[in-house]
Amino acid sequence: MEKTFLMIKPDAVERNLIGEILKRVEEDGFKIIDLKMDELTRYRAEVFYEVHRGKPFFKKLVEYMSSGRVVAVMLKRANAVKRLRVLAGATDPKEAKKGTIRYDLALDGRRNSVHASDSARNAKFESKFFFG
Ligand code: CMP
Repeated sequence: MEKTFLMIKPDAVERNLIGEILKRVEEDGFKIIDLKMDELTRYRAEVFYEVHRGKPFFKKLVEYMSSGRVVAVMLKRANAVKRLRVLAGATDPKEAKKGTIRYDLALDGRRNSVHASDSARNAKFESKFFFG
């Protein structure tokens, strides 16, 4: 069984979508191993998204990610990293497939409701970031 990491972002927490997102994740066969609500400072958001530093959207991303509470979730299932990326859909909801979390729930390319790790290595880093 592979592990991966999901974060429910401030736009989704604010709109009471935690339950809806976790239901989709569980129905897709994921097991929740750990979960917590947290709030990112600007500094922690910068560290979490370090790989995007310097990109044109970085500053606004950090601002948005530290604007409200998030839910950090550790998950496992077979092929977890890939399956969660499919369930989340493309970064920009306008490009996401119907039925994906982002197509159905996201507001735009930044306020896109969830973050899903893009590799097993990043899943490890991101889980450690929140759960130690
Ligand atoms: P996420 O999958 O968490 O990874 C990086 C985040 O940066 C992404 O989701 C979006 O929230 C944001 N992002 C990526 N590309 C853009 C973009 N072109 N414009 C605005 N925000 C973006």
